[in-house]
Amino acid sequence: EKAGYEHFMLKEMYEQPKTVADTLSPRIKGNDIVIEELGMSDAELLSIKKIHIVACGSAYHAGVTGKYVLEGLARIPVEVDLASEFRYRNPILEDGAMVVVISQSGETADTLAALRESKKRGFKVLGIVNVVGSSIARESDNVMYTWAGPEIAVATTKAYSAQLIALYLLAMKFARVKHTVTETEFSDMLGDLARLPDQIELLLNNKNRIQRFANRYIAAKDVFFIGRGIDYAISMEGSLKLKEISYIHSEAYAAGELKHGTISLIEEGTLVASVSTQPALYKKTISNMVEVKSRGAFVLAVTCEGNREIEKASDYVIYIPQTNPFFTNSLAIIPLQLFSYYVAVGKGCDVDKPRNLAKSVTVE
Ligand code: M6R
Repeated sequence: EKAGYEHFMLKEMYEQPKTVADTLSPRIKGNDIVIEELGMSDAELLSIKKIHIVACGSAYHAGVTGKYVLEGLARIPVEVDLASEFRYRNPILEDGAMVVVISQSGETADTLAALRESKKRGFKVLGIVNVVGSSIARESDNVMYTWAGPEIAVATTKAYSAQLIALYLLAMKFARVKHTVTETEFSDMLGDLARLPDQIELLLNNKNRIQRFANRYIAAKDVFFIGRGIDYAISMEGSLKLKEISYIHSEAYAAGELKHGTISLIEEGTLVASVSTQPALYKKTISNMVEVKSRGAFVLAVTCEGNREIEKASDYVIYIPQTNPFFTNSLAIIPLQLFSYYVAVGKGCDVDKPRNLAKSVTVE
């Protein structure tokens, strides 16, 4: 069933161009985005004043990216909660709020409980779910499926990529209805979305270079991922991938927070992966990279083609192709997934079934 791949995780990473295309294409009609499953008219969409995104693990990280994209493109305030926190903090849900739960399996206990709590309070819930007919899919008022197909590896890759796409589509739909983007911006963004599958393919084809780099870090003790804005959200997902399958301690930090404590952990040779895909923030992140490099860190940079300036603050650079800054997560996550995968393979870890973890967490 692994279709010749050594692990399900590798196979599923390679399925990402298709997953992205499959999640996009049913919702793109000519020069418009049509999400019938939303079950909402334009007037209903306009009445949404706030969005609460609730999820766990990687789905939560997709949600954090979703916040930046929804707020940035559609100017709707978004709160993102870990489902296990949302349930017990008596969240304030006001008129005009919409709850979006995100789950690959559709069976995550805390996410399901958050959904039930929201419905009990009279709020409509949109589920972004991968497994058709799962509990969360059945109980959500409306379901936007991510068409990733079955995901076997415990570490999610293709389902996460599909969740990002669903969130971009949602944000663009709101932006279109609210006129917070121009017609030209909207159609340029549609073009950028359509190019993502080929760009992901290109990054996957770079796997040998990443494997060689990963082999240098199989003995690492700590790895830090830093970024700002959307890049911080990518860093969280990159860090989770590494720790869950390679058992290397890693943390994600908002780049500007480093000097408020974490920088004391940087030693000679510590790997710091800097994600920098937002041109408006390039300079700021470079200065954080210089701070850690001057304390001995080895700096890996993931950035967009053209940002040559970053080379002076890095030891190793991975370039991703140009796209709209709101969509860079879909590209920057690919080398980070490959890096984690090859570190874990190099260490001889059970990549598809990491210790202590289950594919769906049905206990609270
Ligand atoms: O099935 P779900 O999307 O609800 O699962 C949520 C998390 O348990 C999941 O994303 C977990 O963090 C993954 N193992 C990450 O790779």
